[in-house]
Amino acid sequence: MTDRMARLVAQHAQTSRLLGVDFVPAYRAGQGADAARPGPLPHAESQTFFADRPAQETPRAAAAVEVKPGPHAERAAHAAAPARPAQHITPTTPITPGTPAARDPAAAAARLEAIRKRYDEDAPHRHFITSFTNIVFGEGDPCARLMFIGEAPGEEEDKTGRPFVGRAGQLLNKMITAMGLQREQVYITNVLKTRPPNNATPTQDEARLCSPYLFEQIEAIGPEAIVTLGLPATRLLLDSVESMSRLRGQWHAFRTADGREVPVMPTYHPAFLLRSYTPENRAKVWSDLRLVMDRLGLAAAGPGGSQANA
Ligand code: URA
Repeated sequence: MTDRMARLVAQHAQTSRLLGVDFVPAYRAGQGADAARPGPLPHAESQTFFADRPAQETPRAAAAVEVKPGPHAERAAHAAAPARPAQHITPTTPITPGTPAARDPAAAAARLEAIRKRYDEDAPHRHFITSFTNIVFGEGDPCARLMFIGEAPGEEEDKTGRPFVGRAGQLLNKMITAMGLQREQVYITNVLKTRPPNNATPTQDEARLCSPYLFEQIEAIGPEAIVTLGLPATRLLLDSVESMSRLRGQWHAFRTADGREVPVMPTYHPAFLLRSYTPENRAKVWSDLRLVMDRLGLAAAGPGGSQANA
């Protein structure tokens, strides 16, 4: 390796480290995916609802949201209404038989577009967010096997209209790559589709108001598994008030309105991980992702990047 190449590699490693990134698993020729499996996990730590946002940001008061009906309110209220008891399922529990909503990419893309249009018209965020630049609906494969759901767009996402493109997004990209996937092969979205003032954590009322569109996105895509990133998404999908330390590391189920049970794996939000970049937290997230990989039959990425079996 030339001096210049060595310097470039060292700079890249340094940048990644500053970003809090070390998710590319170690790979040795002749060893399987288990080479990257972390050792036994330390005891789970407690995490509060607000721990998913940087400490310097001020959480808003959880004010009750006054809801004025939008043009599609009836449908939205209907979709949001049923309580969804959280279910625990083991990795070997078969997914309830049911046809994924769409395996036809064009049909799934058209349905997503219709949901996006309805979201734009209804603008459920108008009750609590009045100042933002772009609606961040979500992006990725309309027939993705795996969905990632975060909490709300941040500054970069607001500017670009794309989910997870800031620092947390760069870490999420590394996590996806480490799972042997490319970002384009998964679908990424958020509970809220617009940036809350000061990046505040969504209140339960706000999450519920926006939930019908998210739940319909899940139905349209028909993923085989969902990773919820942080507590707001986890609690919304599982209809739970448990802490992340109790919920992560095991499978739960989200029941769609069309009767499918989608396995859900909660894990820490990448922004939380960037703030608390301890070996324990990294091991916990990697172990959660390994459970997802096992369920989907994915092998960790080798040095050349992702595999094509998604
Ligand atoms: N955090 C989120 O929860 N979502 C994004 O899109 C970006 C950061």
